[in-house]
Amino acid sequence: MSGSISGKARVAGVMGWPVGHSRSPRLHGHWLAQYAVDGAYVPFAVPPDGLERALRALPALGVRGVNLTIPHKEAALALMDRLDASAARIGAVNTVVVGEDGSLEGRNTDAYGFIENLRQNAGAGWQVPNGPALVLGAGGAARAVLVALADAGVPLIRLANRTRARAQALADALGPHLPCPLQVVEWDAIATVLADTALLVNTTSLGMSGQPPLALSLCGLRADALVSDIVYTPLLTPLLADAQARGHATVDGLGMLLHQARPGFHAWFGIDPAVTPALRRAVLDA
Ligand code: ATR
Repeated sequence: MSGSISGKARVAGVMGWPVGHSRSPRLHGHWLAQYAVDGAYVPFAVPPDGLERALRALPALGVRGVNLTIPHKEAALALMDRLDASAARIGAVNTVVVGEDGSLEGRNTDAYGFIENLRQNAGAGWQVPNGPALVLGAGGAARAVLVALADAGVPLIRLANRTRARAQALADALGPHLPCPLQVVEWDAIATVLADTALLVNTTSLGMSGQPPLALSLCGLRADALVSDIVYTPLLTPLLADAQARGHATVDGLGMLLHQARPGFHAWFGIDPAVTPALRRAVLDA
């Protein structure tokens, strides 16, 4: 996927530990080839105790920036010269942009990726719902989804997590910074709020290959509710299959991964790239 690069090539990459499973090189490599960019996007295997040195080396090397993946997203917060509003609220950095002056700006594009995926794939004419959203899970992915939904104009978000205390802690920390109310719902009481749920989002790892399915009956879910999963292995999770069988529109999780990559590519290589079926295939084949 790498094209031929010149001595003037722009360089970006992804730092992770391990980094070998990252799909980002394939994703950005597809765009570099598609747009014939004189550039390269490379994996950097950086252990946790090497993160600061690795980040500080970026300006010295003339690297334009990097994506960060496990386990660096939270640790990088304190190492940035500046944070964008999204990174500050989500409490994690997934995109680092090196400034002209060598400064490091930490951004978080996961919320953007989540909402752009819905906009592209929820069906023609889809609008952000004016009814409540229900978010399952309280990990790092949930934080980005909550910020995305609130900023997009959802009027009320309900949050349910197996470990209630974790949902409450997240609501206490994030709720005051959101433009809409965030209510914690008991995991065992999910069924009681389905009737007026306009958008259901799974951010737990349930339904992922090798994990148990999400044991949730969609019986009683508002008829026009959209159902989305951030899990994308498999693309059709048991939750989404069940939702489709009941006639709900669904959006799978792969698009969030693809769309969150767009702002970084734009910042480093100067092109706002498109998320296309060919890109989906290239990333799935990885
Ligand atoms: P990430 O940062 O990627 O979101 P995480 O922090 O490991 O990942 O969070 C995983 C989420 O899946 C959590 O909400 C977790 O619930 P707990 O907080 O109770 O652990 C949820 N999860 C994982 N396994 C689960 C299970 N068997 N039943 C219900 N929720 C589960």
